[in-house]
Amino acid sequence: MKSAVVSVVLLVILVAWPVSADRKDLPGAGGYGGDDEEEDTKTWFPLDNQLSLSYYDKICPNFEKIVDTKVREWTKTDPSLGPALLRLLFHDCGVTGCDASVLLDHKGSERRSPASKTLRGFELIDDIKSEIEKSCPGLVSCADILTSASRSATYQLGGPYWPNAYGRRDSTNSYARDVEKVPSGRRDITGLLETFQSYGLNILDLVVLSGAHTIGKAYCGTIQSRLYNFNATHGTDPSIDPKYADFLRRKCRWASETVYLDAVTPVVFDNQYYINLQKNMGVLTTDAELVKDPRTAPLVKAFAEQPPQMFRHQFGVSMAKLVNVGVITGEDRTGEIRRVCSKSNSKRY
Ligand code: HEM
Ligand SMILES: *[C@@H]1O[C@H](CO)[C@@H](O)[C@H](O)[C@H]1NC(C)=O
Repeated sequence: MKSAVVSVVLLVILVAWPVSADRKDLPGAGGYGGDDEEEDTKTWFPLDNQLSLSYYDKICPNFEKIVDTKVREWTKTDPSLGPALLRLLFHDCGVTGCDASVLLDHKGSERRSPASKTLRGFELIDDIKSEIEKSCPGLVSCADILTSASRSATYQLGGPYWPNAYGRRDSTNSYARDVEKVPSGRRDITGLLETFQSYGLNILDLVVLSGAHTIGKAYCGTIQSRLYNFNATHGTDPSIDPKYADFLRRKCRWASETVYLDAVTPVVFDNQYYINLQKNMGVLTTDAELVKDPRTAPLVKAFAEQPPQMFRHQFGVSMAKLVNVGVITGEDRTGEIRRVCSKSNSKRY
């Protein structure tokens, strides 16, 4: 309960802060929120953080422009790639840090784990990489490309444009067994909090970043147990709004079907996700848990009731923290700048 109280106080402070929603309002440097967590990050991830907002200014000035253009092109043809990119970034940063380990495609890699089966956006990242290699060969890491592309996609859907520092290096390793570190849809809040704490993120970050589920879809296979065989007495999870549960059951006869994570405004990056949670219309078990657990419920309520800009702003602050998790920097010799995002330069598999 204590942390919930602290978080609510934090929220009140945040409301009073100016909201920098547009690119031109971005602070030139810094801009990382929640500095109280910095110490934790350092103990968990011993590498010094050397990322810089101006990292590519001289060596590859068109980097972000190329990323933006490519993301725009691809999402125009397939709008579902926008949410896919944001999720892909979370699954990179959530497993051994933002080091592009999720992109490596070889036997036993994260990407080949069953839990990664529904991740998408790899071809788009590969395309951006090959375009960037033309003008800036060997300079831009796949880990940086993924953070930039994901931000671009989020921004294009109405999300915030968070300050994205660069200089990450790419990992040379990726192990399928590490994927269990990234939360699946069935963890309780205590488990989620532990995971986020291991990233150096706090309870506010957990609630805010879960708001990414204001866009995108889930496979019915992911939620079928909630709909058809919940427990011995209830076929359907009784905490789902009955009408919405009917809708989901009709929609989800096949595991390969998909449903929007935000049933009301599925393709807009807004605070509707929290409003839905309060109406018992969370799709994933973990979404529903956020509104049931006394530690997170007050935060859900605050984001549901405050103007959407407050969520957008705080999402940017928490994303700027997430993209710093476990980065490999120049001082660390284990990293490299991959030539192709799906393959390490130095290893043969
Ligand atoms: C808090 C723990 C989280 C859990 C348990 C979780 C779980 C999931 C699950 C199970 C899906 C559906 C996948 C499928 O059925 O194929 C999903 C989708 C998604 N997640 Fe999360 N997630 C979490 C946090 C996050 C975070 C932090 C982000 C990004 C900042 C994120 C972004 C997304 C997006 C955008 C989608 C939709 C993907 C698409 O449409 O292709 N999630 N998540
Ligand atoms: C099934 O779930 C409901 C709601 O969570 C609960 O009240 C009930 O006791 C559960 N039944 C069994 C047999 O576990």
